Amino acid sequence: MSRARITGTGSALPDKIITNRDLEQMVETSDEWITTRTGIKERRIAADREYTSTFAVEAGRRALAMSGTGADELDLIILGTVTPDFPFPATACIIQKELGAHKAAAFDLSAACSGFMYGLSIATTHIRAGAAKKALVIGAEVLSRVVDWTDRNTCILFGDGAGAAVVEACEGESGILSTHIFSDGSHWDQLYLPAAGSRNPASCQRTIDERLYYLRMEGNDVYKHAVRAMEEAAITALNANGMSPSDISLFIPHQANRRIIDATAKRLGLSEDKVFVNLHTYGNTSAASIPIALDEANRSGAIKKGDIVLMDAFGGGFTYASALVRW
Ligand code: UT7
Repeated sequence: MSRARITGTGSALPDKIITNRDLEQMVETSDEWITTRTGIKERRIAADREYTSTFAVEAGRRALAMSGTGADELDLIILGTVTPDFPFPATACIIQKELGAHKAAAFDLSAACSGFMYGLSIATTHIRAGAAKKALVIGAEVLSRVVDWTDRNTCILFGDGAGAAVVEACEGESGILSTHIFSDGSHWDQLYLPAAGSRNPASCQRTIDERLYYLRMEGNDVYKHAVRAMEEAAITALNANGMSPSDISLFIPHQANRRIIDATAKRLGLSEDKVFVNLHTYGNTSAASIPIALDEANRSGAIKKGDIVLMDAFGGGFTYASALVRW
């Protein structure tokens, strides 16, 4: 059976920056509160004519270029997102057209902040089963369009952007050692977007006046579950491979809150130098956060050949996931 290996990474971010100081002018908050409670200093926000597909296509192109893969070689394009360009068709189909990936099957995957990791798991499974040879997995979001900019509990957290990875069949020691995906639907209503689906069809009185097109989150509950679930996903990955935290060269967690990352790393016994953090510059980009971080780590040389990299996500649903990779 072939292994699946990540052979290219890419990311793309909007140019526009909103700092904590900018947010002080919009809602009752402070740079000090946001920094100490979350670790975020600034986030990137899409311009008017930039969409989820805009960043996804660019991130995908960069990943393909790094891997030396032609778009027409792709068998599969999987986009993890909760902010597609439209409810349908799949934004992955728009990406397929823009890239010229004629023979790829393309679909969107809704697993909130775990979307990229779920996509990575499905691509890996397809490749190992011989159903695909080359896949492009993307996490992309324009959360700024569904964030309530009058709600200080949520608007300070999120940002826009995309990250991508080319995953292909290979032989040898390097590659994706395991992926694990989990869900706990009993908490679906702690982080969700009420409208734009079949429960709350468009109506001025309800969906607009009641602000149902904006995401809602019970931050404190989400926070507690995130730490526990990310620890469980990480330990499951290590146990499945007969490894311990000391084997990890680099830990790439979902970038939601510095305190969640630090608490998870502490539970795993990982020192700070083994944990990749970039959320101070981008905030929480949901499905895009891990592939953006992976691309930055890869391009900066923070990951070297042979390194053991653990990726670990948590998001709405709840969903959570881990992937262990020998680079
Ligand atoms: O991507 C995966 C899903 N998302 C996450 O993982 C996010 C998980 N949650 C979190 O990161 C944190 O819960 C938050 C950063 C959202 C909030 O931090 P917290 O320490 O849980 O604060 P809290 O919600 O308990 O609120 C504490 C206080 C409240 O005031 P009172 O009720 O104590 O008077 C809030 O109203 O802080 C207040 N507050 C703010 N104050 C200034 C909430 N947001 C702000 C703000 N600026 N932006």
